[in-house]
Amino acid sequence: MNQATSIPTRFARLLAVGLVLTAVSAHAREEAVVKLDPEGETQLVHPDIYGHFAEHLGHCIYGGIWVGEDSDIPNTRGIRNDVVEALKELDIPVLRWPGGCFADEYHWRDGIGPREDRPSMINTHWGGVVENNHFGTHEFFDLVEMLGTKAYISGNVGSGTVQEMMEWVEYMTSPADSPLANERRANGRDEPWKLDYFGIGNESWGCGGSMRPEYYADLYRRYNTFVKNYGPRIFRIACGANSFDLNWTEVMMDRAARNMDGLSLHYYTLPTGSWRDKGPATGFGEDAYLATLSNTLKMDQLIADHDAVMDKYDPDQRVGLMVDEWGIWTNVEPGTNPGFLYQQNSLRDAILAALNFHIFHKHADRVRMANIAQMVNVLQAMILTDGPRMVKTPTYWIFEMFKVHQGEENLALGIECPEYGDGDLEIPVISASATRNPDTGIIHLSIVNTHPNEETRVLFDFGEQPSMAVGRVLTADAVDAHNTFENPHVVEPTEFTSVSFEESGMSVLMPPKSVVMLTLQ
Ligand code: AHR
Repeated sequence: MNQATSIPTRFARLLAVGLVLTAVSAHAREEAVVKLDPEGETQLVHPDIYGHFAEHLGHCIYGGIWVGEDSDIPNTRGIRNDVVEALKELDIPVLRWPGGCFADEYHWRDGIGPREDRPSMINTHWGGVVENNHFGTHEFFDLVEMLGTKAYISGNVGSGTVQEMMEWVEYMTSPADSPLANERRANGRDEPWKLDYFGIGNESWGCGGSMRPEYYADLYRRYNTFVKNYGPRIFRIACGANSFDLNWTEVMMDRAARNMDGLSLHYYTLPTGSWRDKGPATGFGEDAYLATLSNTLKMDQLIADHDAVMDKYDPDQRVGLMVDEWGIWTNVEPGTNPGFLYQQNSLRDAILAALNFHIFHKHADRVRMANIAQMVNVLQAMILTDGPRMVKTPTYWIFEMFKVHQGEENLALGIECPEYGDGDLEIPVISASATRNPDTGIIHLSIVNTHPNEETRVLFDFGEQPSMAVGRVLTADAVDAHNTFENPHVVEPTEFTSVSFEESGMSVLMPPKSVVMLTLQ
């Protein structure tokens, strides 16, 4: 459906109320032009692309989310109040747990019943630390209910049995008077939980079992057979490719497409492109900034390539592409456990997140979910904690600013803009995405200026122009600006007023290295 033609009419009907704008210099050069593409498709941006991921890794769960009921840190049934309060502001649509690599060594029975009786295990993937299983199935669903989010659980294919997986699903979701459902009741939960998504294995090509796609495809079909629907139908997600491995997608779609609802995809942005030395999270130069953004923009082609393979077997796009791990992966902070993946988070990462959301919007026809890695204290986190202290990262603010896009219709845009780069490596200066609320007709427009040093004037030609624009901007003095426990407000959104209405359209003066979110009426 092409909605573009209805926009001018709608704007024309709106009253020019509460114009909260500052005129930009009449002499500023128009450097970028963004137009609604009248031929473009309008797709719904699935809210779940704003999903999260929390793994038993470093201090994501323990310390970051779970402190235990006896902790001095204010908590509700062991889950820290400050973190939940901050996360609730993000309207998180879905939460993936317990891994990651950890999922394929997790045995759910170790995480139920009285905590003092739960057996410990070694978390072999992440630092070799002892996991006491105090955060298990009941605690996860408690968190899910506190956040008001959907549940996405990754099952253990790598080191678990079919029976174990089958019983876990029955334990969680059966309303019957059956031994497993009654065991759940004895552990304090009467009603079954709603399990929205179930992943059958994680990175089965790597930490989840080092399998070939041919072998995993058969294993997937076998395990999936025993994931039963005891209540609302569970959306089944097969393990998908490691970034550019199109053959994995080809084999999975060929052999198991009809047994799955979604196929995952993992792609991490490495600043240097090398796993050996990924580059620091702060204290990097402009070359690293440019390389990082260039690497993250590869997500666009990556999705297009996997989508093309999926189209061969699923032209109606029934199977969703679930980007259930993405984000920037840098070197750990000096002096921290290398197995804990603890990294700072800067304005660069916020810009990176915004660029990825624009890519996910663009591919809304196939991408049904994306889960940032990870929620707290690990990789590109929303929140960092240190004992009782907590700080919101620049990436947190992108999720907060962009939440208005959730569930809205993506409007196809055509963008003409200069490039930023050094001749060898160049990226577009402007990225933009517009979504329309299907109920109110209000348009949310997010814009990124990737140029670290120069402002960019952007002219928006939406046919007839809107009469009002209010917004916020996220920017800072340096691309590696970040929030610390001592200075938690260095990178935070502020009011944005550099919008003017001219005959040719709406003109926005984008500060260097900035992300703007505008509400248009
Ligand atoms: O997010 C950290 C790890 O990255 C996950 O456990 C794994 O799935 C991926 O390799």
